[in-house]
Amino acid sequence: MEPTSKFILPGILFLFTLTFGFWLSRLGKPYNGLVFNIHKLVALAAVVFAAIRIYNLLKGADIQPVVVTLAVVCVLCVIALFATGAFMSIGNLPHAPLLTVHKVALVVLSFSAVGMVYFLIAKPQ
Ligand code: HEM
Repeated sequence: MEPTSKFILPGILFLFTLTFGFWLSRLGKPYNGLVFNIHKLVALAAVVFAAIRIYNLLKGADIQPVVVTLAVVCVLCVIALFATGAFMSIGNLPHAPLLTVHKVALVVLSFSAVGMVYFLIAKPQ
């Protein structure tokens, strides 16, 4: 399989996650249970598939420091997305800062993930 095509499935799942995220926001609070769970589970599936594909690319490669740095940033962003998502749904913390962190982590994750895949695929060791 072409290295880039390995990321089609995680990419599609990521787009579904965004779609359900914006839909969830539009529907407002209290969150629609079905849309919330689809958003959360599709996000989980996207992360798991992306992690498996990236792990397979990393195996046996001479890993560059930039890839390690971007991977750490991606992991931190995923933790931030899941934590803020969970806290927003529980609703016991101020909503606005949590949503801001959710959005910022999403943007940083997108750029870091694309950068990491670029360095892994375009600059193979
Ligand atoms: C890869 C992981 C994730 C991505 C890319 C993502 C992306 C998004 C996006 C784009 C929005 C819409 C934000 C807006 O209106 O501007 C959103 C909203 C939301 N997400 Fe996520 N999300 C992720 C994971 C999660 C998880 C795991 C949870 C729950 C545990 C979650 C809970 C929420 C909630 C509750 C909202 C609605 C916020 C509101 O407007 O009140 N998200 N997400």
